[in-house]
Amino acid sequence: MAFAIEVNGMTHSVDVDGDTPLLWVLRDVLGMTGTKFGCGMALCGACTVHVDGAAIRSCITPVDSIGSSKITTIEGIGRTPAGAAIQKAWLDREVVQCGYCQSGQIMSASALLASNPHPIDSDIEAAMSGNICRCGTYLRIRDAIKQAAQTSAQGG
Ligand code: FES
Ligand code: FES
Repeated sequence: MAFAIEVNGMTHSVDVDGDTPLLWVLRDVLGMTGTKFGCGMALCGACTVHVDGAAIRSCITPVDSIGSSKITTIEGIGRTPAGAAIQKAWLDREVVQCGYCQSGQIMSASALLASNPHPIDSDIEAAMSGNICRCGTYLRIRDAIKQAAQTSAQGG
């Protein structure tokens, strides 16, 4: 069945079964491989994308549930103010180690910053707790989110 989905501002027609997870539509049909597969069970956060600005797990989100909602992936998040601030802070703080989890981390962090420009530690903990990093980059992630919040507050 054909579905029209909007990803990063562009509408795509995809011909897949309705229960196909959004993750596989993004990666296998649209070739957007920045979004990663980790567990397939909503347990690790590697597959996180935004649907209408909210961070969701694309591995358990059937494509027929998307409707006219707007999807943003790691390929497009840098074009949003929060995403740009997060990506700059990620580079400044040298957050990334192996990198595998980092698309999902950045997507969760961007959703947090867009909805809460001044997150405190407990906000960050709550927003990021579903994103697992086997390399243990958690402290740098928290510092980068705080830097991004400061940068955004200063309008830079
Ligand atoms: S792959 Fe979706 S949460 Fe792990
Ligand atoms: S940077 Fe390696 S899993 Fe997070």
